[in-house]
Amino acid sequence: MAEFINYFQDGDHSLPTILMLHGTGGDEKDLLDIAEFIGRDNPKLGIRGRIVEGGANRYFAHLPSGQFDLQSLQTESAALFQEVHKLAEEYKVDEDSMIMLGFSNGANVGLYAMLHKLTPIKRGIFMHAMALTDKIDPDASVGKVWMSHGILDPIVHERNFALIQKYVKNSGGQITTFEHNRGHEVTMEEIQDAKNWLDKLE
Ligand code: MLT
Repeated sequence: MAEFINYFQDGDHSLPTILMLHGTGGDEKDLLDIAEFIGRDNPKLGIRGRIVEGGANRYFAHLPSGQFDLQSLQTESAALFQEVHKLAEEYKVDEDSMIMLGFSNGANVGLYAMLHKLTPIKRGIFMHAMALTDKIDPDASVGKVWMSHGILDPIVHERNFALIQKYVKNSGGQITTFEHNRGHEVTMEEIQDAKNWLDKLE
């Protein structure tokens, strides 16, 4: 399997590092503008998903049937978060206190990793995430998370968003939600809400 490609931007080490996880078709720098807006001085680490489907980078594969490949999801998530561990040491930033910033495919993989104990990271901003599987680790322990959803989202249906919230809550997560009446896209108001959440986070 290919090596992971990463981007690191150093910052104030007394602030948590923002771990940027892009959506399908993005890359390691895709969420940089949003990360800069919500946490100007925080160190920032972005990692590119190493699965490429139809030219688009992703964090895990689909099966030929179009369904999510749960084996790929498991292996790639484990490998991704091993990489995060390695890079945290390399760049001398604290891993446990990181804040994930994920959109769509990146939010999905981040939440999956938390719910399957593949990472010590417990906090995150998850834009337009969904539940990928109903199997979660009963011992998973999630911290404070912010999650957004679009009422008209053709990818993440209301029912699925409710499901992922249920899993996070059952794992001890304290959720703040933001909903807009659009689709899968990220709005300025949404980013501002995420920033307000992060500013207040202890
Ligand atoms: C996924 O593949 O994780 C979801 O369908 C969201 C996306 O398209 O990135």
